[in-house]
Amino acid sequence: MMLLLIYLKVLVLIVLLVNTWNVADCYDPLDPNGNISITIDIYQWTPDGYQARVTIQNYYQYRHVEKPGWALGWRWINKEVIWSMTGAIATHQGDCSNFTTRVPYCCKENPVLIDLTPEAPPETRTANCCRSGVLTASAIDMPNSLSYFDMIIGHLDGKPNVQIPHNLTLLAPSIGYTCSPLVDSTPTTVIVDGGLRKEQAFRTWKSACTYSSFVAKKSPACCVSLSTFYNTRITPCPACSCDCGTVGNVPPQCTGEGSVKPPLERDIQLNRYIGCTDHMCAVRVHWHVKSNYKGHWRVKVTVSNYDFVNNHSNWNLVIQHPSFNQSLQTFSFNYTKLPTSAGTDEAALFWGLNYYNTMLVHADEKDPGSVTTDVLMNKDLESFTLSNGWAFPRRIYFNGDNCQMPMPDEFPALPNSGLRPSNFQHILFLIIFLIFHGV
Ligand SMILES: *[C@@H]1O[C@H](CO)[C@@H](O)[C@H](O)[C@H]1NC(C)=O
Ligand SMILES: *[C@@H]1O[C@H](CO)[C@@H](O)[C@H](O)[C@H]1NC(C)=O
Ligand SMILES: *[C@@H]1O[C@H](CO)[C@@H](O)[C@H](O)[C@H]1NC(C)=O
Ligand SMILES: *[C@@H]1O[C@H](CO)[C@@H](O)[C@H](O)[C@H]1NC(C)=O
Ligand SMILES: *[C@@H]1O[C@H](CO)[C@@H](O)[C@H](O)[C@H]1NC(C)=O
Ligand SMILES: *[C@@H]1O[C@H](CO)[C@@H](O)[C@H](O)[C@H]1NC(C)=O
Repeated sequence: MMLLLIYLKVLVLIVLLVNTWNVADCYDPLDPNGNISITIDIYQWTPDGYQARVTIQNYYQYRHVEKPGWALGWRWINKEVIWSMTGAIATHQGDCSNFTTRVPYCCKENPVLIDLTPEAPPETRTANCCRSGVLTASAIDMPNSLSYFDMIIGHLDGKPNVQIPHNLTLLAPSIGYTCSPLVDSTPTTVIVDGGLRKEQAFRTWKSACTYSSFVAKKSPACCVSLSTFYNTRITPCPACSCDCGTVGNVPPQCTGEGSVKPPLERDIQLNRYIGCTDHMCAVRVHWHVKSNYKGHWRVKVTVSNYDFVNNHSNWNLVIQHPSFNQSLQTFSFNYTKLPTSAGTDEAALFWGLNYYNTMLVHADEKDPGSVTTDVLMNKDLESFTLSNGWAFPRRIYFNGDNCQMPMPDEFPALPNSGLRPSNFQHILFLIIFLIFHGV
């Protein structure tokens, strides 16, 4: 019996590791088609080149692009120059010394383009630009998940020379995105004349950029803790969920002594502004099973920010739980159900209410910054149970990044099974956990 238990625990560990790896390495089962697409449409030839519109569309359902925003780059093949541009700016003009009569806007072989600020004057704007490079998550705010800019490209000897730029790169806002090469695609069409006529671009080039935290080399930033009304045990985040490891002689990047204390000026200069906790995460999500009624049950979800400097504007949370196929009600968050592929548990996406809690503020000397809501769920009497960890979430993401869950044998147990579940229950528990993780 004992041996079997150890065996199962090892199995669970492997499953957890494999899961984390999958998530880290690109493929997200909750958003399998997520990408940021880059489209370049040529819609007019000019004597020495063409006019083009570049559209950046964030198709990630719950991964947004935060300040300082996106930066897009590529490499010209034919020594093209950008004569003029609206809706974005090129960060460097480059060497335009060979031009005498008219000076181009950008002569760089590898231009880097960034968005304008909201204060940009009207003549420099396009209809959809100027948000300092911020793109919202598409399932939350579709209209602001897209941005475009226009440019006039020249210094070519007519259109036979038109070539697709190479080496497209996207920083959004830092590394982590890998873009496929731009390829010729079905021309973009626009509907004109009140829907009676379609006009199409001369050429359309497309690329899709996908995010990988493995490429981003980002350590986890988030963990999950659990509690219930029926057990006084609070399951903390797993110790060292985030960046505990001392790399070489570099101590953990946190501030305060064993508790949450504000950083000294010196700490901020060293980029140490996350409170020292056992989990060492900047963000903790707490799931509290609050009450159990006849036809409903209630959970309180709290997101805490242990970072003393950085706020999270427009934060979001994805939670996967089998109960989300029932109708649910939130009190202080906005939410939507996410479409999930067959066989996976339902997931819901939560975010802040306008003018109320869209900002998850930084910690102060007393408390972490936090946002919280109650979630009231309908009960499916066939599947609902408080035993075997069923009432706890299967998976949580904060701003698109996976949060570390406690191990199932650490979950708060029902009191009639004692503080620690018996071996039999223990095994049942683990088997059910494995089934939920699709093994
Ligand atoms: C990018 O996302 C869109 C929308 O989900 C999808 O239609 C398209 O196929 C995706 N592109 C790639 C290359 O995955
Ligand atoms: C300027 O023109 C000369 C002669 O054609 C060429 O060798 C040089 O590379 C050009 N410089 C730039 C910056 O394009
Ligand atoms: C694109 O990048 C690759 C790898 O960095 C490099 O080998 C290649 O020469 C680049 N292509 C152009 C046109 O700059
Ligand atoms: C964080 O939010 C607080 C309160 O809204 C604000 O005073 C502070 O300037 C913000 N800090 C940063 C770094 O944006
Ligand atoms: C929700 O899922 C449970 C199984 O997890 C199933 O028994 C129930 O019929 C589902 N309810 C709806 C409304 O799909
Ligand atoms: C909830 O989200 C929707 C979609 O983004 C938005 O239209 C609505 O205003 C939000 N409601 C509140 C109260 O924030």
